[in-house]
Amino acid sequence: VRIPRPKNIRSRLTLWYLLVLAGLLLIYAALVFAFQYVVLTRQIAHDEIQDVETVEGLLYFNLQGTLQLRQDYYSRPQSHLLIDRMMEVRDSSDNVLYRSPTLKRMSLDGATRKGEGDASFDQRIIRLQDGLYVLVISHIHSIQDQELLIRLGYSLAPLRQRMLQFLLLLLLAVPIALALAGFTGQMIAKRALRPLERMTTRAESITASNLSSRLEVKNPDDELGQMARVINHLLDRLEQAFLHLQRFTSDAAHELRTPLASIRTIGEVALEKGHGSEEYREALGSILEEISRLNETIESLLLLTKAEATQTGNRQTTFIAIDLVNEVLSLLEVVIEERNVTVIQENDSEGKVEVRADRSLLRVAILNVLHNALKFSPNKSVLRISYSRTANTSTRLLIAFQDQGPGISAAEYQRVFDRFYTSSARATASQSGAGLGLSVAKLVIDRIGGAVWFDEQTQSGAMCIIAVPIFNESST
Ligand SMILES: Nc1ncnc2c1ncn2[C@@H]1O[C@H](COP(=O)(O)OP(=O)(O)OP(=O)(O)O)[C@@H](O)[C@H]1O
Ligand SMILES: [Mg+2]
Repeated sequence: VRIPRPKNIRSRLTLWYLLVLAGLLLIYAALVFAFQYVVLTRQIAHDEIQDVETVEGLLYFNLQGTLQLRQDYYSRPQSHLLIDRMMEVRDSSDNVLYRSPTLKRMSLDGATRKGEGDASFDQRIIRLQDGLYVLVISHIHSIQDQELLIRLGYSLAPLRQRMLQFLLLLLLAVPIALALAGFTGQMIAKRALRPLERMTTRAESITASNLSSRLEVKNPDDELGQMARVINHLLDRLEQAFLHLQRFTSDAAHELRTPLASIRTIGEVALEKGHGSEEYREALGSILEEISRLNETIESLLLLTKAEATQTGNRQTTFIAIDLVNEVLSLLEVVIEERNVTVIQENDSEGKVEVRADRSLLRVAILNVLHNALKFSPNKSVLRISYSRTANTSTRLLIAFQDQGPGISAAEYQRVFDRFYTSSARATASQSGAGLGLSVAKLVIDRIGGAVWFDEQTQSGAMCIIAVPIFNESST
């Protein structure tokens, strides 16, 4: 049989609390009941012993030699126990000398037991023939040189009756107490959990359009307040990410709109004014150029989203750094020749070290940095690529790309890595693209666990440095 579990915490808490309380109350009631029983029985035994002593003073043999109980004792009001008392007196040869009328000719516990009454007042509970439970006290008393065994009994029926009433009272009180406790417990739990309810409704109403609203924090130090704070921080981060995404999307749309607009203009002008195939050819050439730029931008955007989705440490391989640089250089051969740039590699023995990274990601980064260096280099200039190592515990390989171009102003060392940022400096403006290259490079290098930055000490030209973790046998 499956017991249905209450759905909400409030009822579950109350239920547990009630179960524990019920257990405790029952144990308590049982203890009180037992204690009460023992105390009352002792009280009766005590009274009974006193009664035995009184009765002994009232016993006498009359002239016929029969044992009698003096009756004038009843002159003052008597308790039920005294009136209903049962008594039996036996002599040493076990003849019954006296039996009280309350016994109705029944024997009070039969023949004399061995050693009965030796220990002054013997005490025991017996059952009469008619089923009545009696507390019996036996005592040996001598009258006129006769050793008499006196047995005195009090019925336990009144006590049982009282105990039964007491038990009923206790059993009635327990459910009432439980009902009260359950009700108040439910109220307390409801009160305590009310902030949680408010938080839930508030959180439910938060959507992309009102990401700036927050949960209210009543008491920042209690558990619910802490939870509200944590959720608010989460919302902060979400909002930031969301704003970032929004900005990125609008920037991207803007970046795509410009070349599309110029493609359209070129097409319209050609249709309107173009007369010969020469004009059309020219227009198509410009359109293709714009399209390839558009293509590059879209490519970079895709790369950015792809790199953002990659987890750090994914697809790590070990390879020789300088091989990768040479591979990228051969890819850019056309640009190098076009610009007539001389590429010099320095310290290439250092570059022959194994690095550990996602090769395709690192390739993208180097390609972007090298492409910039070549793009912004004047004709017939020199591009130096040098290799070195950092000398601390986490050894990295530093690859520096130094060109002889216009360089980067101090204010732009960080900003050039922003998405869509292109410097407005006249020296580079003509060559600038979408402004995504360096942000892509930075993102992928971050994913690899490396770093990329522009050297701020360099006076002429720009020096872009890429740091990559070196492969270390012992660390893998
Ligand atoms: N080697 C360099 N020398 C001088 N300025 C540079 C150099 N590299 C980058 N910059 C500046 O940083 C800006 C951002 O570079 P980034 O590579 O992000 O964009 P881009 O090259 O203009 O466009 P894209 O790479 O998307 O085609 C460049 O527009 C340029 O102003
Ligand atoms: Mg670039």
